[in-house]
Amino acid sequence: MNKEIESSVSVDKSEQSVSAEFVADSYTTVGEPLLDDPKISIRNGNVFYAEKQAIFDVNLDIGKQQVISMIGPSGCGKSTFIRCLNRMNDTIDICRVEGEFRMDGEDIHDSKLDVVELRARVGMVFQKPNPFPKSIYENVAYGARIHGLTDNRVQLDELVEQSLIRCGLWNEVKDRLDEPGTGLSGGQQQRLCIARAIAVDPQVILMDEPCSALDPIATATIEELINELSESFTICIVTHSMQQAARVSTRTAYFHLGKLIEVNDTAKVFTNPEHQLTEEYITGRIG
Ligand SMILES: Nc1ncnc2c1ncn2[C@@H]1O[C@H](COP(=O)(O)OP(=O)(O)O)[C@@H](O)[C@H]1O
Ligand SMILES: [Mg+2]
Repeated sequence: MNKEIESSVSVDKSEQSVSAEFVADSYTTVGEPLLDDPKISIRNGNVFYAEKQAIFDVNLDIGKQQVISMIGPSGCGKSTFIRCLNRMNDTIDICRVEGEFRMDGEDIHDSKLDVVELRARVGMVFQKPNPFPKSIYENVAYGARIHGLTDNRVQLDELVEQSLIRCGLWNEVKDRLDEPGTGLSGGQQQRLCIARAIAVDPQVILMDEPCSALDPIATATIEELINELSESFTICIVTHSMQQAARVSTRTAYFHLGKLIEVNDTAKVFTNPEHQLTEEYITGRIG
């Protein structure tokens, strides 16, 4: 363990909350944050909102066709971090991102990069399902139209159908494709948003607490879907549910006050964490 972190966490056991509040400025992520041949690789990632720093010196690789969970207390920077991966932070005026963010070796933050195209390659699903105020069909067809992915209506119909089938929604909506997407149940809307994301053939899907507005049955359906999609896509999911992280992901990253404390195989993080802060979180002492 890095000496500075060690000194920051080796406080008197009766003052656990003190360690939870404090991580030394200079730190090293414990576990295995780096991989051979990653899909995405982040080096010295820092994010600021005006003067306030939200992400500190993150070094992390994200593997191909892998699900990685981002966990940690509210406000620790999970959303800020994943928004760096498709430049959603560009939409926040006061937000500044520094460091190296690469996908297949290409600099995601290169000013010459086409951001619209990047966001097709790195799709995003939000906490609250956000279908467009359009029909079910048009929600899924939207990206394909913008990016000119199909040549004619027959191909577009096929793409919409295939995307809805992959999200397990086709049978539920095939007779009402012209009805508004917003008329579906919460869980269906979230699957519609996932269908919309995969219709443009992304490589990576970012999910920011995709189930937190859903009931347990809709949540289980989305989790099954994540498992299926992980065969084709790299998925980064933010979750506040440790059970969900354990069910859907092979790797887990624990953030604390903007710092990436620990990254390891999910089973290891939950059964045998290396860092005291991770342990305090998973045993419910921080949160
Ligand atoms: N748009 C914003 N403007 C200013 N500060 C923000 C903004 N979004 C997030 N923050 C701050 O950045 C930190 C990390 O927030 P966030 O990434 O939303 O955490 P999490 O997703 O882990 O709850 C928090 O201190 C939060 O207040
Ligand atoms: Mg968040």
